[in-house]
Amino acid sequence: MTQHGDGSSCLLRAENVCKTYQLGETTVQALQNIDLEVREGEFLALAGSSGSGKTTLLNLFGCLDRPTSGRIFVAGTDVAELDSDALASFRAATIGFIFQTFNLFPVLSARENVEYPMLLNKTPAAERENRAKEALERVGLARFLDHRPDQLSGGQRQRVAIARALVKRPKIIFADEPTANLDKKTAIEVLTLMRELNTSEKVTFVFSTHDSMILSLASRIFHMSDGRQVPAPEAPHAH
Ligand SMILES: Nc1ncnc2c1ncn2[C@@H]1O[C@H](COP(=O)(O)OP(=O)(O)O)[C@@H](O)[C@H]1O
Ligand SMILES: [Mg+2]
Repeated sequence: MTQHGDGSSCLLRAENVCKTYQLGETTVQALQNIDLEVREGEFLALAGSSGSGKTTLLNLFGCLDRPTSGRIFVAGTDVAELDSDALASFRAATIGFIFQTFNLFPVLSARENVEYPMLLNKTPAAERENRAKEALERVGLARFLDHRPDQLSGGQRQRVAIARALVKRPKIIFADEPTANLDKKTAIEVLTLMRELNTSEKVTFVFSTHDSMILSLASRIFHMSDGRQVPAPEAPHAH
C-alpha cells in the first residue's frame, strides 16, 4: 500500500482508467482517463449529473466490472490480477456496497437481511445473529430486528442496507446515490449516520450524489462530467 507523507495510506487508486460500452454500432465512452487516489479514512463524494460516469466508476472500484483500459488498485491489490473466484472472496472480505434502491430481500426480516452476507462466508449461526443484532443497533434499528422491508420506512430500509454493508467489517463501503430515494431530511440523517460510522468504525466511504446539500457533508469531492474529472463548478455568489 502506498504511504503518503502524512502517514495515511492509499486505499484505492484508479490509474488512467477508461471504460467504454458497446451498444450495437455505437461506442459509449463512460469513463475517460480517470486518475483518482482515495486515502484511508476519507468520506469522498463523486459528484456529477446523470450520465457523468459515477455508477461506472463505483462499479469498477467495487470489482463488479472491469475497466476497458487502465488499472484499479483496491487495498494495494491490482484487481485485474485476480481470477473470478479470488475476486469474489477479495470483494466479500474488503468491500461493502449500498445501493440507491436498497436491494433488500423483501421476504427476509431486517436481521436476516443483515445476516445474509455472513451466510455466504459460512459464519456460525450464533455469531451471525449477534453481529447482525449489533450492526442493526449501531444504525439505530434495535427495535426493528424482525420487521420486513415493507414494514419499514425508506430511511429505515437504507439503514438496514448500511448495517448489511457494515457487518462484514469492510475496509471500504461504496454507496451509489444512497439518498436518491429519500426525502431531504431523511437523506441528511442517513448521510450523517454514514459519516459517524466513517469516524467511529474507521471505514472509508466513497459515495455518489448529484445533490448539492448532500455534497456539503463530504470530506472531499471528485467532480465528474461526461466521464471525465472536471474542476469544481463555481459557487453561486452570495448576496
Ligand atoms: N451497461 C451499459 N451499457 C451501455 N451504456 C452504459 C451502460 N451503463 C452506463 N452506460 C452509459 O455510460 C455513461 C455513464 O453512465 P453512469 O456511470 O451510469 O453515470 P451516472 O451514474 O453518473 O448517472 C452514460 O452515458 C450511460 O448511458
Ligand atoms: Mg448512477
